[in-house]
Amino acid sequence: MKSIIGIGNALTDILTVMEDESILKKYRLPVGSMNWVDSATASTIWNEIKDREIQIMPGGSCANTITGAAVLGMKSAFIGKVGDDELGRLFKKGQELIGISSILLHGTQSSGRSMVFITPPNAERTFANFMGASLEQGPEDLNEGFFDGYDILHLEGYLVQNQALVRKAAEIGKKFGMTISLDLASYNVVESNYDFLHEIVENYVDIIFANESESKAYTHKAPEEALDELAKVCKIAVVKIGAQGSFVKSGDEKYRIAPFPAKAVDATGAGDMFAAGFLYGYSRNLPLDVCGKIGSLVSSRVVEIIGTKMSPQTWDEIRNGIAEIIEKA
Ligand SMILES: Nc1ncnc2c1ncn2[C@@H]1O[C@H](COP(=O)(O)OP(=O)(O)OP(=O)(O)O)[C@@H](O)[C@H]1O
Ligand SMILES: [Mg+2]
Repeated sequence: MKSIIGIGNALTDILTVMEDESILKKYRLPVGSMNWVDSATASTIWNEIKDREIQIMPGGSCANTITGAAVLGMKSAFIGKVGDDELGRLFKKGQELIGISSILLHGTQSSGRSMVFITPPNAERTFANFMGASLEQGPEDLNEGFFDGYDILHLEGYLVQNQALVRKAAEIGKKFGMTISLDLASYNVVESNYDFLHEIVENYVDIIFANESESKAYTHKAPEEALDELAKVCKIAVVKIGAQGSFVKSGDEKYRIAPFPAKAVDATGAGDMFAAGFLYGYSRNLPLDVCGKIGSLVSSRVVEIIGTKMSPQTWDEIRNGIAEIIEKA
């Protein structure tokens, strides 16, 4: 089985179920909104909620994919930047607990975090996000030695806030003959880094993951045609269309992958877990459609929970489901 190393923004996911909206009012967070908060507000909120019953786990798009890969049994590593603080230590511990080699450098700011408040009556989700030290990650942090012994390099599109970092990562990956995979992350990431991403994708990327709006921003085309365009420049292209499933293509080989039925409550992490499942299949040299089906299965389970932390029992069911998919193929 192939191994994987990812580079991403190390953002701890902190999920709190509130009995009312008082904390939202206090920090002027409109119900159901996504907010960027400053360092002082991020620490004040953290200190206020940390002794409550919270769900806390290493997060950020790439880190989520690496978590999935590790839980499925791949040798996995993650490179990111945190602060020299409690949250940074929890991030590392969280990753190490599931067997990820956690390479976390320290920035000067405090650790990045995504704080989610679930409030009644409709389990509305309100975000207070702080990028913190993760934004300080740069090309100078990438030591070639980190990559030694890994086959796949997975990058998240959000890293384009530092283009030099992405370029250096891609160059190292290429130098070591790694398979480079990239998740485009968000349509506005694609729009605001259009030329840069085209250059990186065309010159370095082997496996590209895009959802409908990202593939449209990249190619100006609808999903299936976008897939064809992407497959001309990458060995493998994946275009995801949410509850409708996905398309995968490599050369002339092309499949529409059906979604697995799911009782969806929260789409967070769907794309990240699709990538984890797909790359797991790839790491076992499974056929393209089988990789897609595994991605589809893993992502269908994460949309059934709030947040991204699937229980050990769910992972057992996923492993059984994967075995079935492989058996049928
Ligand atoms: N309601 C659903 N039921 C079953 N499967 C789903 C559902 N929503 C998403 N999926 C699965 O998750 C995959 C990825 O979802 P989506 O297309 O939303 O990607 P994404 O936009 O990258 O996700 P994210 O918001 O996590 O970045 C889909 O291709 C599909 O297989
Ligand atoms: Mg996505």
